[in-house]
Amino acid sequence: MTNTAVQSAQNQTGERSRQTHRYLMCRPDHFTVSYRINPWMEPARPTDTALAVRQWQVLYDTYRALGHEVQLIDPVPGLPDMVYTANGGFTLDGIAYGARFRFAERAPEAEYFDEWFAAHGFEVVKPSQVNEGEGDFLLAGDVILGGTGFRSSGESHREVAEVFGREVLSLNLVEPRFYHLDTALTVLDPVVEAGDTAGIAYLPSAFDEASRGVLAERFPDAIQVGPDDGAVFGLNSASDGYNVLVSPRATGFAAQLRERGYHPVTVDLHELLLGGGGIKCCTLELRGAAG
Ligand code: ARG
Repeated sequence: MTNTAVQSAQNQTGERSRQTHRYLMCRPDHFTVSYRINPWMEPARPTDTALAVRQWQVLYDTYRALGHEVQLIDPVPGLPDMVYTANGGFTLDGIAYGARFRFAERAPEAEYFDEWFAAHGFEVVKPSQVNEGEGDFLLAGDVILGGTGFRSSGESHREVAEVFGREVLSLNLVEPRFYHLDTALTVLDPVVEAGDTAGIAYLPSAFDEASRGVLAERFPDAIQVGPDDGAVFGLNSASDGYNVLVSPRATGFAAQLRERGYHPVTVDLHELLLGGGGIKCCTLELRGAAG
């Protein structure tokens, strides 16, 4: 974490304003790649758990230094993907809509996350539809963006719309490397005034034509990110409205962010990319329900 990052968080400059967020993370103590459920995972390739923990710790420390609150869920032996807490559910207004994982390898995680939400004051809604939490559901102002095509089902979008009483805009993912919405799209302004459009950035080629049309219509000012930045998981980033935590490899995206008045803060999670996840995957936003 650089001094400038800390400073900027403390003395807000420019037009962009940051908000304080509450996140849920899980230390990758049991991180490894022992199965393959996305194209990034190669079980034959060795992983370095200690390195994964060190890189994860930098992400944790960076959030804290920027003034955010980070809560932790205990890692469970035998569930190496639990570090990707974004998939543990979707929270809003004190309600936690639980996950129902597409693959058997991750299915047992759901219960641990549901227990954590209940123990921390959330009303837990058990899903009847397959969905992978904030990996595929992103809040952008008044609207929830829902990804489908690889993991979360289209039916889960309807369920989320009902549970939260919000509009869900369904987006179809078509590129296997970008199998969750949060690998192809990031929300830059998590909180906006009622009726305002949130800033977002996305990788157009990860979506089908119809979804590209929806994005262009609803988010005409969005940043369109190039394939090189997309391929290094540049879009798997987390923003507090000003500071945007982003992979150091996504240099083009970082420049686009600066042009728009955001402040990119780089965090390198390349070891966790061996499991197909990055900054956002390791971060679940907690909205509502006190600590
Ligand atoms: N290995 C995990 C999986 O395939 C990675 C999950 C990444 N999470 C995310 N929110 N994109 O499910």
